Amino acid sequence: MPPLFDWEFAADPYPAYAWLREHAPVRRTELPSGVEAWLVTRYADARQALADQRLSKNPVHHHERSAHGKGKVGIPGERSANLMTHLLNIDPPDHTRLRRLVSKAFTPARVSEFEPRVRELTDRLIDGFAARGEADLIHEFAFPLPIYAICDMLGVPAEDQDDFRDWAGMMLRHHKPGEPGPPRGGVGRAVKKMRNYLAELIHRKREMPGDDLISGLIRASDHGEHLSENEAAAMAFILLFAGFETTVNLIGNGTFALLGHPRQRSLLRGAVADGDERLLATAVEELLRYDGPVEMATWRFATEALEIGGVRIAEGEPVLVVLAAADRDPAKFADPDVLDLERRDNQHLGYGHGIHYCLGAPLARLEGRLALSALLRRLPDVRLAVPPSELRWRGGLIMRGLRTLPVEFTPEPGDG
Ligand code: HEM
Repeated sequence: MPPLFDWEFAADPYPAYAWLREHAPVRRTELPSGVEAWLVTRYADARQALADQRLSKNPVHHHERSAHGKGKVGIPGERSANLMTHLLNIDPPDHTRLRRLVSKAFTPARVSEFEPRVRELTDRLIDGFAARGEADLIHEFAFPLPIYAICDMLGVPAEDQDDFRDWAGMMLRHHKPGEPGPPRGGVGRAVKKMRNYLAELIHRKREMPGDDLISGLIRASDHGEHLSENEAAAMAFILLFAGFETTVNLIGNGTFALLGHPRQRSLLRGAVADGDERLLATAVEELLRYDGPVEMATWRFATEALEIGGVRIAEGEPVLVVLAAADRDPAKFADPDVLDLERRDNQHLGYGHGIHYCLGAPLARLEGRLALSALLRRLPDVRLAVPPSELRWRGGLIMRGLRTLPVEFTPEPGDG
């Protein structure tokens, strides 16, 4: 079996996943943390496992739950009390109730109202570096865009959004290239600050509701049921975190894939110049399939003995569905290792499947479309500033994304 979880694997996990799909499609594996989990790599098995209600999201079902690090779903700060009861950690009927409540506040129509604001944000961020002829697209573009977008949606006032950006940066250990990372304990402090801020904000919105998502969450009710303040805080937190690093990586991985495929990129650039939205939409789906932000779906635990792909999984054992492997399965996708922005009927699992299917998919699609089109429009000759082998990938299990993406381009003329 090829080595999993080393540096080479982080840079390109796809050959190892191809091996697993072929030789050991449901495989018990020791993770870097020492925890053992089942990796599911074939598309058909993955889709079935994601919809299997016998696989619980609640870490209490993990047979080794008391040991360090067990049952984490990979969201910074998730261990923090009060923020635990979020959608990705719970099962029906609680999940059904909370998801119904949040869906009332987070509708596709509501998301599309944000289009002008996201458009303005993308342009403002590009204005920050367009005249320079070089930039780190992760730090200066992909990272700030989703945090500002989700802060706007939640109703975090503009003057507080830079604090959010800093806390989020600490929580992801994201920092400017060349600068030291967060101090020891910095992540915990950032989670605490964000939690306190959200609790305070929810309190304020309860007194004085506005036209924002947090007010919507407070207002949303179902058969007389409301979200408690704790539930609303956990919900705001999961929206921030499920919607943040994922979108950073959609923009980062997507741009990187385009830079490595000049013909596909010029096809898309032509479509953007002609205002052809259709190709932009299929391109975002294909980039999600080809090198999506969520490498593995979050942890699931067998509530009873069950079989996946003919392999027996015992009660209490953790299962990780490898979306990145499933989305390159030749049994499902023709030429799965080829980036084809025009791919039709692209039923990728990049947003998951079943009851935990990504709630924020409409927002992610909107941000992905607007970010890529703005980049191709404003920086038509954008290219990598370093050889691809020099790029470093973040090491996490669940998310797949670049640490930096240094690019060069012809500078835009300044204002004078
Ligand atoms: C390209 C960007 C994104 C990708 C690839 C993505 C992917 C996913 C995936 C794979 C899941 C399911 C995880 C599982 O079943 O274990 C998920 C769930 C979720 N996503 Fe996203 N996501 C993205 C953006 C967003 C955004 C922008 C938001 C919100 C602002 C969001 C909110 C959520 C929430 C709340 C869940 C949990 C839903 C539930 O458990 O019912 N996501 N996402």
